[in-house]
Amino acid sequence: AALATSDQYLRGVKVLVTAGGTRERLDPVRYLTNDSSGKMGTALANAAAAAGAKVTLITTAHQVTLPAVEVEKVETAEQMNAEVQARFDQTDIVLMAAAVADYRPREVASSKLKKTGDQGLTLDLVQNPDILAALGASKTHQFVAGFAAETNDLLQNAQAKLARKQADMLIANRVGKGLGFNRDDNAVTLLQPGQAPIELAQAPKLELAQQILRRIQEVRA
Ligand code: CTP
Ligand code: CA
Repeated sequence: AALATSDQYLRGVKVLVTAGGTRERLDPVRYLTNDSSGKMGTALANAAAAAGAKVTLITTAHQVTLPAVEVEKVETAEQMNAEVQARFDQTDIVLMAAAVADYRPREVASSKLKKTGDQGLTLDLVQNPDILAALGASKTHQFVAGFAAETNDLLQNAQAKLARKQADMLIANRVGKGLGFNRDDNAVTLLQPGQAPIELAQAPKLELAQQILRRIQEVRA
């Protein structure tokens, strides 16, 4: 019922959404990841499809999607980057809701790492590509939106990311102590270059997704 909409405000629009935390492998049985559930990204994909968009969801998460959403499962940031890049030309709106791991192990061990003696272990990590920044730098007609989940200095950090990544919108949300990750509700602030911030009050993620998509379509129109 929450999805039923006769208003096809995204009819024919090609929307690409990423969701979930990427998993960065150490060995065949271990990986580094984060607390992202993929719920916000999945809500955006479902809301866009319900509004008539042609939606691709590139995700690490196991969340329920509408049949109309094309789902591409990935594990790592590098895989997500490749899938996003392959589709960017034929996309109108990109929503980078994924929590892309900032680092990955320099080497992925081909067999299970074993303990040696009683020493600790230092991991050697390298930085992952910044998918959103690359899209921002190369966009032509696309509307590119990112998310910023912050525990501190939310709006300052999010404004800085909006500029640094040349995004058209940054959706800022506070995380920590009962907020943000793996919840059905969220409250966000929409930041756009040269515009006053727009606050969206706490609501189910699906409702927020609809408000975000309507705002984007208004700006694009
Ligand atoms: N992002 C991305 N590729 C990365 C890291 C982040 O595309 N390697 C995207 C996220 O999907 C999100 C936005 O950039 O839409 C902001 O992510 P965030 O982690 O808040 O920003 P970072 O640039 O990684 O900065 P930091 O984690 O140091 O705050
Ligand atoms: Ca990060």
